[in-house]
Amino acid sequence: MKVIITENYEEMSKKAADVIADVVKADENAVLGLATGTTPIGLYKELIAKCARKEISFKNVKTVNLDEYVGLPKEHVQSYDYFMKDNLFNHIDIDIKNTNLPSGVAEDLDAECARYTALLNKMRQSIQLLGLGSNGHIGFNEPKTPFDSTTHIVSLTQSTIKDNSRLFDNIDEVPTKAITMGIANIMNAKKVLVVASGDNKAKAVYSMVKGPVTEDCPASVLQNHPDVTVIVDKKAAALL
Ligand code: GLP
Repeated sequence: MKVIITENYEEMSKKAADVIADVVKADENAVLGLATGTTPIGLYKELIAKCARKEISFKNVKTVNLDEYVGLPKEHVQSYDYFMKDNLFNHIDIDIKNTNLPSGVAEDLDAECARYTALLNKMRQSIQLLGLGSNGHIGFNEPKTPFDSTTHIVSLTQSTIKDNSRLFDNIDEVPTKAITMGIANIMNAKKVLVVASGDNKAKAVYSMVKGPVTEDCPASVLQNHPDVTVIVDKKAAALL
């Protein structure tokens, strides 16, 4: 694991955007595994700026997102589909047909999990971007998720519902279930990039980098991946 500690969120975002831009420059057909949450918003802004300056193009790039809430239609402002369009896809030269998210409103969610895993097997991520839940979750793989899991439906933990409620009008509106890439799907990426910022992530960052590899901290599995870059600001790195 390569760990880079930055002064602040802005520097974390710039450095992380450079890592993704390098992947796109090296392969115009790259498959980007993307993440939602507030942490990647700054790096998405940097990618939008690089695209506007014509330093990179997403014309032939394909994307696969980590996860989606169950029950929120695509048009819902809190859906991850909406988030990706609003924070990235609508502002770059990507073909929207090349973007993929699991559907949280599919009639048959088990079939949707199988469809998404099959898609991921065909489209191995050149790089997978990850944020970090304060309990060490990646995607929506909560503590105790088996390391060999593929796309599945999860019941969100109370701590994740509480963390994510800040983005909803009230906590009762936060969906209690989600569909997420499994840990095996994440580990299959050629490269992994983790970003984290702020002191509420310090414990999870420590467990990911220095803790034992255990299903109690899903992010700790990344110690077993051969090509991981962790970019965190100094508040998130406080316990390292
Ligand atoms: C959600 C997402 C994760 C994300 C996490 C942290 O639970 N499913 O993919 O990493 O939130 O979000 P934030 O970056 O807002 O702290």
